[in-house]
Amino acid sequence: MPNMYEAMTDSELDAAIADLEAQADEVRALGLKLDMARGKPSPEQTALSRPMLDLLTSETDLTDEGVAVDNYGLPDGIPSARKLAAQILGVDPANVVVNGSSSLNLMHDLVCRAYTHGIDGNEPWCRQGEVKFLCPAPGYDRHFTVTASYGIKNIPVPMTPDGPDMDVVREYVENDPQVKGIWCVPMYANPTGITYSDETVRAFGALKPAAPDFRIFWDNAYCVHTFEGEGDHLLNIFDAVHEAGNKNLVYEFGSTAKVTFPSSGIAFVTADPDDMAQIRAAFSTMRVSPEKIGQLAHVKFLKDLDGVRAHMKRHAAIVGPRFALVQQKLNEGLGGTGVATWTDPKGGYFVSFDGPEGSAKAIVALMADLGVKLTGAGATWPYGEDPKDTNIRIAPTFPSLEELGQALDVFVVAVKLVSARLAKAAR
Ligand SMILES: Cc1ncc(COP(=O)(O)O)c(C=O)c1O
Repeated sequence: MPNMYEAMTDSELDAAIADLEAQADEVRALGLKLDMARGKPSPEQTALSRPMLDLLTSETDLTDEGVAVDNYGLPDGIPSARKLAAQILGVDPANVVVNGSSSLNLMHDLVCRAYTHGIDGNEPWCRQGEVKFLCPAPGYDRHFTVTASYGIKNIPVPMTPDGPDMDVVREYVENDPQVKGIWCVPMYANPTGITYSDETVRAFGALKPAAPDFRIFWDNAYCVHTFEGEGDHLLNIFDAVHEAGNKNLVYEFGSTAKVTFPSSGIAFVTADPDDMAQIRAAFSTMRVSPEKIGQLAHVKFLKDLDGVRAHMKRHAAIVGPRFALVQQKLNEGLGGTGVATWTDPKGGYFVSFDGPEGSAKAIVALMADLGVKLTGAGATWPYGEDPKDTNIRIAPTFPSLEELGQALDVFVVAVKLVSARLAKAAR
């Protein structure tokens, strides 16, 4: 179906472009400096966790379940933090390591380790010729950068409303032993905000990889980040793996980066026991012991899963209205025009927006010219190459509601103007 601009007569289209250019000129004259680029919590959100800073003082008992927190030791993390992480991910604390403040760091370390030392006695990936990773796209740019940085070939896989296209995933994973892994954000995915369906999770659990050293990198970064209603439901990947008679197929990651403080949260990884033994061995050559004072502060502050959920409700009160504003502004400005589609998530950090083919780079450039910074077009695809140049990641959490409203008004003008110009160029 033609969009609104494609359906116009030549003179109607010329008039529409002139009108939109005049609107763009007015915006430009305002000299705006707005940023909708990265998925960062707003200062109001990080302020929610400031009370955590008061929980550790020079008087605090620095032991956890009888073991010292203020010294080396406990390479798997302090017991209560492992229990908290296990509750968040729905797994056995015996299989959890809490380590460092960045889950991306843990993912990187495990890709690096597989590359240099191999997984489960197999040749290191670096000695296996061209190895490949599957990258559901649009996806998280920093995942793709990790594998690309080792020269691993990133292969895009289409995303559906239920998760990655599992026919494509199965075809690659079960037939090509050079395919060593897949990046997944199974809940409130970055950037689509969708949660994988039970069928998708079961299909992941039942994979029969051609490579014995294939692993699913299950980055459950947003598993507690519901901002609307009861939120989505995600099947436990390990249940799906074990029901299918598989094991040692998944590395799952999480962190409190966007629960407490980005860069100063606690990060964790879980896997089946054999995989965990190898992960522990890998980490033991990298660090004497994780940073445990931060772990203690987190446990004192968040306590347990109920505590995490109560805290996330406070985040929801701040981010929910921002996401609602995105829907309102896009519906008012672009609803019925036929130029764009966008997602409407119930949690997470992003809205994924698709304009007409060949529009995304031009929209992002025009937005920059009008004073609003967006995530670079193409960033959500491996190597920054969005084949249809349609996708833009909207990150609404950081700006204030007022700034966000302004930025979205500018966005609507930019999308319409680029769409109208494309319709004209196609005549
Ligand atoms: C999907 C996903 N995983 C991981 C991260 C980073 O988490 P961390 O700060 O724990 O490394 C982000 C941050 O935006 C993310 O979107």
